Amino acid sequence: MSNTILVGAQWGDEGKGKIIDFLTEDADIVVRSQGGNNAGHTVIVGDKKYILHLIPSGILRPKKVCVIGNGVVLDPIAVMKEIDGLRAEKVKVTKENLMISDCAHLVLPYHRGLDEQRELKKGKGKIGTTKRGIGPAYGDKIARVGLRMADLMQPELFTKKLGPRIRENNAILKAYGAAPLNLKAVLEAYLEAGKALAPFVRNTVVYLHDALKAKREILFEGAQGTFLDIDHGTYPYVTSSNTTAGGACTGSGVPPQRMDRVLGVMKAYTTRVGEGPFPTENAGLSNMLHGMGREFGSTTGRARRCGWFDAVAVRYAGMVNGMDEIAVTNLDGLDGLPSIKLCTHYKLGKKTLDVPPSDFLQLEKCLPVYEEWQGWERPTHEAKTFADLPKQAQAYLHRIAELSGAKLKIASVGPNRDQTIVV
Ligand code: GDP
Ligand code: IMO
Ligand code: MG
Repeated sequence: MSNTILVGAQWGDEGKGKIIDFLTEDADIVVRSQGGNNAGHTVIVGDKKYILHLIPSGILRPKKVCVIGNGVVLDPIAVMKEIDGLRAEKVKVTKENLMISDCAHLVLPYHRGLDEQRELKKGKGKIGTTKRGIGPAYGDKIARVGLRMADLMQPELFTKKLGPRIRENNAILKAYGAAPLNLKAVLEAYLEAGKALAPFVRNTVVYLHDALKAKREILFEGAQGTFLDIDHGTYPYVTSSNTTAGGACTGSGVPPQRMDRVLGVMKAYTTRVGEGPFPTENAGLSNMLHGMGREFGSTTGRARRCGWFDAVAVRYAGMVNGMDEIAVTNLDGLDGLPSIKLCTHYKLGKKTLDVPPSDFLQLEKCLPVYEEWQGWERPTHEAKTFADLPKQAQAYLHRIAELSGAKLKIASVGPNRDQTIVV
């Protein structure tokens, strides 16, 4: 392996967790560099299912080191709960295999409160956030009024800084008609979590640079997906971090020259959870997948909206991320269909577009132009090699790679480790 940035090429939930877990076998270190516990990455090991929110998906492989980088926003109580949950399942989590950046920003209860209130206030125009306080936490970071892990590690300093933040945010919560927070209660809960997390906290930039010098291989675990990126996504229906490849550099302190390749993960169709434009959305496909018990959110349990593969979106994801290779997951979701649609272009009025328009109002007006592919109508979940796949499925995957402008590296035909085909 080499230093690899793994990104979601669609709207999140592409199956990144499964692919990260698979690739971690050949990596030494797995780094999360953005997002928070809005993420839900599913990994299945044997008959056990794990859903990771803040801890990198590499944690399930012994002897691998996991790093939560400076670009992540972290709720210390949520992360402690996740660690306890993993330990209860006999997964080793120690200061030897988990490190947390002292520069990571904290998610505080007022961030969650504001997230909820802003969504309520927007009513029908809501974003459909995970209500984990992600937007307000990144907002405070950019406004330079955030609190960081380093603050939490100094109880006296944290106490001094938290008071004015609670007072200011209580005034805002009050204006929304929401209940104010109790400073003492927040302080106690956070200081307790801080104490438990202290062994994991360090300067992770220095750790990663030492690892680079020692030629250890690093896998960067993207959270969310390209079209949820704060700059390149379907703004304002996005999350609040840079989910695209560049975010791995700024969110970890590893410079671009040290990155060897970018792998884009995508489903063989498209899903989106939350509001916002989705040109290839299709009710029939949604109903079919939900009927199979698939496509319910791993963080909030909401039913995901489903649609056909959107090559216009993925083509753009290829540009923005510099995708060298792709992993296509959930191919088996299409097994039962006699015919499959694949969107190659959009029509916007008289114009034909091969990349999405920047403005979401225009994107909402785009009509997908489809190619129709013959389905394979037989199960793929037992395929072990590319040659085992039906010819129509092979052709469909090749077409996806061609339209993405990247090399097909992995095809996934089920949630388990052994349902992964390296092409
Ligand atoms: P992530 O956020 O990108 O890690 O994706 P999620 O875990 O939120 O959602 C992906 C879902 O698809 C999870 O339930 C995975 O277990 C599942 N999954 C991943 N790859 C495959 C696949 O090839 N086939 C099937 N059937 N399920 C898959
Ligand atoms: P993973 O890493 C799918 C979506 C939310 C909402 C928007 C903003 O599992 O792929 P936020 O809470 O971040 O302010 O919500 O982003 N969203 C995700 N959708 N997968 C995710 O993560 C997501 N994280 C956030 O549904 O539309
Ligand atoms: Mg997910």
